[in-house]
Amino acid sequence: MSDVWRRTPIAADGTLGAAAEHPGRRDPLYLARRHALAELARGHRVGDPSPVVEYTESEQATWRRVHRALDDAHRAYACRAVLDAREEVRVPADRIPQHAEVGARLRRLTGFDFTLAGGVVENERFLGSMARGYFHAVQFVRHPAVPLYSPEPDIIHDVFGHGIHLAAPEFAAIYRLIGQAAVRVKTEAALQIISDLYWFTLEYGVLEEGGTPKAYGAALLSSSGELGRLDRSRIRDLNALDALATPYEISGYQPVLFAARSLTHVADTLAAFLSDLDDDSALRLRPHG
Ligand SMILES: [Fe+2]
Repeated sequence: MSDVWRRTPIAADGTLGAAAEHPGRRDPLYLARRHALAELARGHRVGDPSPVVEYTESEQATWRRVHRALDDAHRAYACRAVLDAREEVRVPADRIPQHAEVGARLRRLTGFDFTLAGGVVENERFLGSMARGYFHAVQFVRHPAVPLYSPEPDIIHDVFGHGIHLAAPEFAAIYRLIGQAAVRVKTEAALQIISDLYWFTLEYGVLEEGGTPKAYGAALLSSSGELGRLDRSRIRDLNALDALATPYEISGYQPVLFAARSLTHVADTLAAFLSDLDDDSALRLRPHG
């Protein structure tokens, strides 16, 4: 899969798919809003400017509520590098930022930019764009009925997770490393291996800080619920082959997380594994895809 849950609930036309528990599934107004935002992304090419979205008061209220919850959760459970990057990116508390605004700030800090995703983004495009300094981000907001939970990545996930990451050169280097591996390979098996490593690091990774696991993964950073139950996850030392042998939950809490000693340790682990990965070695690792 590409970004976390991106293959599952929303299709490119803005319809909500397989996640039967999706809180917006039976809300015609929400479905219409999602459809309209997906339409804005139709035909978007990587690097094109994202359209300006006029967010509704309900969407702004959801943002403010989640911002408050994540403020507290980050202070308690996020790693030092994330807290520092968060200062740099300056996530507004009172309103939803536009892609152009976030992207301009990231460009100044690390050379990365947001590029628009309307729905499903396949691995090749999603991961490969990172080599060129683009991260696919969405513009829609989760359903207001359950503001602290989203079954898919929304703009809150993308800003509070990837936006914060991409304000820090150490994180940006890891995204580029993953992107460069993705553009080197051709097969879906190899792309899926890269995507799985992305999942266990940039989405669900933790760092050991003072003997305590602290979150750096974007999926953790955008969910106060996930952050609050870090101590209930099984934490293993980061190892690429172990991560690739570990099944994961696309929706729901991750039972196993992988901990590194530092972001340098994450980058070194990925670089060592990815430098040897090609389409042939991917087939040997995953003969059945
Ligand atoms: Fe994500």
